[in-house]
Amino acid sequence: MTIRFILVLTLIFTTGTWAQEVSVKGKQLFQVHCQVCHGVQGKGDGPASVSLKPSPRDLTQRPYKYGCGPGAVVNTLRTGIEGTAMPSFSKTLSEEELWALGSYVRSLQSSCCSQ
Ligand code: HEC
Repeated sequence: MTIRFILVLTLIFTTGTWAQEVSVKGKQLFQVHCQVCHGVQGKGDGPASVSLKPSPRDLTQRPYKYGCGPGAVVNTLRTGIEGTAMPSFSKTLSEEELWALGSYVRSLQSSCCSQ
């Protein structure tokens, strides 16, 4: 009984810490790689945004053209968007970093997304 209780507590603690680490990492990566275009809060108002057409997406607002769930965002990050300033990050970032960003971008969205 006691051992089971400790195990459950450990599990809750470690998964909670993991989720927190992913979002902290996602946020840091966002400030380094995305903020210049998408803005500190992802509103599409970074310093480089004024000169870009189409302008960087406001990531806090839906709808997203290419899907807004973490998996869809990771996909957009891998491919980039042809004909726009949105670059591909498949060579610059690791798989783990891409997913941390996918979850972070998902957390910026104001309404729930099921895509
Ligand atoms: C050089 C500027 C630039 C950088 C850096 C950049 N983006 Fe973008 N991003 C854009 C532009 C411009 C678009 C809009 C393309 C369009 O309207 O089709 C875009 C679109 C997107 C979309 C697609 C939204 C949709 O409608 O589906 C996502 C998601 C996204 N960016 C996330 C990111 C993330 C995360 C990073 C950092 C890893 C990043 N971007 C870095 C310019 C940039």
